Amino acid sequence: MRIFSGIQPTGTKHLGNYIGAIRQYVHGQDRGEALYCIVDLHATTVAYEPAELRRSVYDLTALLLAAGLDPSRCILFRQGDVHEHTELCWLLCSVTELGRLQRMHQFRDKSVTQRELVSAGLLLYPVLQAADVLAYRAHEVPVGEDQREHLELMRDVARRFNTRFPRPGTPHGGGQASGDGEEVLVVPEHRIPEIGARIMDLQDPTRKMSTTGGSEAGTVYVLDEPSAIVKKIKGAVTDSGKEIVRAPEKPGVSNLIEILAVARGHTPEQVEAEMRDARGYGDLKAAVADAVVEMLAPIRARYVELRADEDALETVLADGAARARAIASDTLADVRDCMGVGPPRTVRAPR
Ligand code: TYM
Repeated sequence: MRIFSGIQPTGTKHLGNYIGAIRQYVHGQDRGEALYCIVDLHATTVAYEPAELRRSVYDLTALLLAAGLDPSRCILFRQGDVHEHTELCWLLCSVTELGRLQRMHQFRDKSVTQRELVSAGLLLYPVLQAADVLAYRAHEVPVGEDQREHLELMRDVARRFNTRFPRPGTPHGGGQASGDGEEVLVVPEHRIPEIGARIMDLQDPTRKMSTTGGSEAGTVYVLDEPSAIVKKIKGAVTDSGKEIVRAPEKPGVSNLIEILAVARGHTPEQVEAEMRDARGYGDLKAAVADAVVEMLAPIRARYVELRADEDALETVLADGAARARAIASDTLADVRDCMGVGPPRTVRAPR
């Protein structure tokens, strides 16, 4: 099984990114052939500073390594190094409906916050994301809940492509017989964690924790100092009553229970049982603060060491890009062949 996910380099990574995504990336290394991509091209779709973008790619590379990605067990690379992503994005535009892109939530939300320019890149963002995954014929995409709409579009794009452009020689295709008859693109499944798929802002638990839309005091960063983590969690907004249970009318407490469950490696039901004798929300917050500090402190320590050596980080990314390109270029040759772009592919490269 092949696993692929992408993460934006810009913005400081927070507990939502860690629980919703990065932890699944680490587990993915034991479950299949895993590829993880730092999506610098996606970051150019909104206002940004070029020098800051470069820096933030290194920051994120060091963070992902510190969190447990191991380049001998996964392929970690920078999107802009593998040109197949942008080529496939263009080719997939031919099977992507414009109206659907205009209706995507992220496009609608982000286009109102752009002051100077709503770029065409912002509209095409989901097509590039589809290309990221489809270029590797990945089966599974670990993401948080907020990526569900993008994953659905990606699956539709893959299906439409396979229908519109079958392999030459298959029943609905023209040209020379290729022999194997399989569909060209794999329709991927998302993998959204059962617990922690949507970590909420600690100051406004009706909104997701986020670097762009959230509050500073309600966002725990992976690299926050322990004292800052404790302060933010102890200052979390809770709900009326004092029962420590998950309930729709208790978004603040429910969020803290989920965070504690993930940090302790327990189920939310176990956490509720463990907290039955607590004196109130103060005890819950203290337990969450301890558990989150314990979970994040080792990452912070390793990060500081790894971030200091940019040459080593660049080597990891360059090596990852070479390995990624070897896979993506094979898909692109197939896609071009099916679409009639460029010369016919007479000699098929081995998979
Ligand atoms: P990005 O960089 O915004 O977020 C990275 C991952 O973190 C998850 N996440 C959360 N999970 C739980 N609770 C939260 N509050 C929370 N906030 C963020 C996201 O769901 C995501 O999994 N468009 C993508 C990047 C991307 C991508 C891809 C992902 C580009 N190409 C291909 C998968 C496959 C994004 O902006 O993620």
